Amino acid sequence: MYKKKTTPQASSTVEKKKSKKSPIPQLIRGMKDTLPEDQPWWEATRDQVRAFANAYSFERIDTPILESTNLFERGVGHDTDIVQKEMYSFVDQGGEHITVRPEATASVIRAYIEHGMRNKPQPVKLYYYGPMCRHERPQFGRYRQFYQCGFESLGDQHPVLDAEMILIGHRLLKTLGIAATVQINSIGDEVCRPAYQTVLKNFFKKNRKTLCESCKRRLHKNPLRILDCKEVKCQEVAQEAPQIVDHLCDACRAHFVGTLEHLDELEILYELNPRLVRGLDYYTRTAFEYWYQHENFGDKVSLGGGGRYDKLAETLGGRHTPGVGLALGIERIVLLMRELKNYPIIGFHPDVFIAQLGEQARKKALRLFEDLRASGIKVRQFFARDGLGVQLGIASRLGAKFTLILGQKEILDQTVLVRDMETGSQEVVAYEKIVWDVQKRLK
Ligand code: HAM
Repeated sequence: MYKKKTTPQASSTVEKKKSKKSPIPQLIRGMKDTLPEDQPWWEATRDQVRAFANAYSFERIDTPILESTNLFERGVGHDTDIVQKEMYSFVDQGGEHITVRPEATASVIRAYIEHGMRNKPQPVKLYYYGPMCRHERPQFGRYRQFYQCGFESLGDQHPVLDAEMILIGHRLLKTLGIAATVQINSIGDEVCRPAYQTVLKNFFKKNRKTLCESCKRRLHKNPLRILDCKEVKCQEVAQEAPQIVDHLCDACRAHFVGTLEHLDELEILYELNPRLVRGLDYYTRTAFEYWYQHENFGDKVSLGGGGRYDKLAETLGGRHTPGVGLALGIERIVLLMRELKNYPIIGFHPDVFIAQLGEQARKKALRLFEDLRASGIKVRQFFARDGLGVQLGIASRLGAKFTLILGQKEILDQTVLVRDMETGSQEVVAYEKIVWDVQKRLK
């Protein structure tokens, strides 16, 4: 056979190539794996979101993770941080401008319009649970892909719906063991907000020198956002700023009072926060957030927020469709749940564990596993292991009530050895009666 002669030079090139092995790909910055050991907390949030949705008559909607960029530019607002700096946008192979959704409210409204949901009884109540992406600076509790659960109530403008929305988020957090405070404000509508913006602009113009560079830019485009700037010097100026509640039109004031009255009736404590304006442009009237004080988050963290968006459908080209909604950030909730430990996480404990000794027993054990599982018995196994001690160890770690042992002798006698894991007592049971026997013991 022809063997290629390698020159010393050639072999050193091979070595160089070997040592230049590309590194193992790693998680992208700001992304996170949710590992099996994290799942019980996530499962708890999914279960409770579903339970709340059922209780308050919200139906599930799933919209795609990719939408046309235009939807968010128009819906969330061209001048928002989300659209200006945080969207994962690209042009696809077909030349379409696509964005990985940074939030889901705009998508839900798109779906409402696209599927003619205005023909259903109003309000149409929808909920979702899924990933969103924003290219933000990662920090404790802030990721570039994060999950939200959201509730949207579309097609009616009664303040009772605003109160119901605030109630759902508050009670859902409470059920998960988190006592968050409700921050609430009204940011008016197209009738009263422009005049307030002028008042606000004039106020901040007088204090222009003190404002940070971003707020100097906001002064022209979106003076409302100066109110919730995180810079201390801007916050100090904002403390003195005129408040929108003093500039609401009659309709907006009546709506706000109506919402607060419902919250009072529900005995939900809230803080009126005149500087709460939210970072998305689609809001009208009610704006709210759920805050939790936590040192790891710097100061207070927003676990969720929402508000009314009566003009969003029209902004997207649809007919007038009032709406109100909220979204909660699941990562932040899970972080707090794990720390506060107020929500009982009950792990999986099998009724029975099957331990097998030897090749023949293994075959029978798989069959036995299937018979037990099909009869509704919670069963676990570790067929890759042979030693009885190891398998009993696994069974007790899992918290199994009984271990069914199948060895050479049991195979010959057509029996199973049933071990009570609490008392350690063992009993021989005929193989054909084992399912019935286990069911009886579990009663
Ligand atoms: P949002 O305030 O942008 O509202 O997000 C809601 C919640 O999502 C936040 O309070 C936070 O808990 C979580 N969240 C946001 N960004 C991140 C991040 N980078 N990492 C981790 N968690 C995050 C909305 O998205 C609106 N669509 C809510 C809404 C629904 N308004 C009406 N309907």
